[in-house]
Amino acid sequence: MTHVPTPAPFDDAAEEYDQRFTATEIGRVLRRSVWRHLDEALAPGSKVLELGCGTGEDALWLAGRGHRVLATDASTAMLDQARRKIEGADLLDRVRFERLDLTAIASQPDPPDAPFDAVFSNFGVLNCVEDCHDLARVLHRWIRPGGRAVFVVMGPRCLWELGWYGLHLRLPTATRRWRGGRPVTIDQGHSLRVWYPGPARLKHRLRPWFEARQTLGIGALVPPTYAAAVIRNRPGLLRRLDELDRRWAHRLSGIADHYLLSLERVDHVAS
Ligand SMILES: C[S@@+](CC[C@H](N)C(=O)[O-])C[C@H]1O[C@@H](n2cnc3c(N)ncnc32)[C@H](O)[C@@H]1O
Repeated sequence: MTHVPTPAPFDDAAEEYDQRFTATEIGRVLRRSVWRHLDEALAPGSKVLELGCGTGEDALWLAGRGHRVLATDASTAMLDQARRKIEGADLLDRVRFERLDLTAIASQPDPPDAPFDAVFSNFGVLNCVEDCHDLARVLHRWIRPGGRAVFVVMGPRCLWELGWYGLHLRLPTATRRWRGGRPVTIDQGHSLRVWYPGPARLKHRLRPWFEARQTLGIGALVPPTYAAAVIRNRPGLLRRLDELDRRWAHRLSGIADHYLLSLERVDHVAS
């Protein structure tokens, strides 16, 4: 794949990303919710394209389950972290890494590993793309007929965000998702523009190449990491909120921090 301008917005966040999110109690609970769904969606030994792999936590899990992964990201610093993690687990034979900027995907040559059985992106990667229409057209070419797509995306209404920042009188932050396309600063470093499409809008932009099968809330009642104070010193609360999230996941996608959209590649698209 071709040149991507550097530095990428997440480069500076790469080193501390796991400490700030992945390795936190809340981060682990949220990621396990996504993995439960992936376990249902992926056939054994699948070939998976991961978009915005970050520090490689999901690639590591996928490789550990016997899947093969092309892990991609726009940030070389993120890819370096991911490579180190996979190397440390001695799983480099199942994971290949490529730098890929989704905003320039239309000009990319097809990866040699295509077609994939599935494409996956976790925790807000698609929020960094203004309009996923072109992305869906390219992915349709890279995914096999009947293949799956699983995207975990920040929605336009997060109950926790409104409540938490509202109570702290930080109203611009509480309502930031209503002003999609404005620059967001990543860990006091670079900024990038972020959009918050709801499930209906995203499904619409992924048509006619992908057809939605399921939408689930991820982190509707489990708080985001910035509100971790709520669960501190309350043993069992996080587990109970996670159980409720799991039970009501189908109903709570409209107020959750993220929603998981599970789709199937449409076989024949009329031209
Ligand atoms: C919030 S992190 C999520 C990382 C990882 N998926 C996870 O679950 O921890 C967002 C990731 O998207 C990547 N990203 C942002 N814009 C991108 C783009 N235009 N193309 C590819 N990756 C991008 C960032 O570099 C970062 O690694």
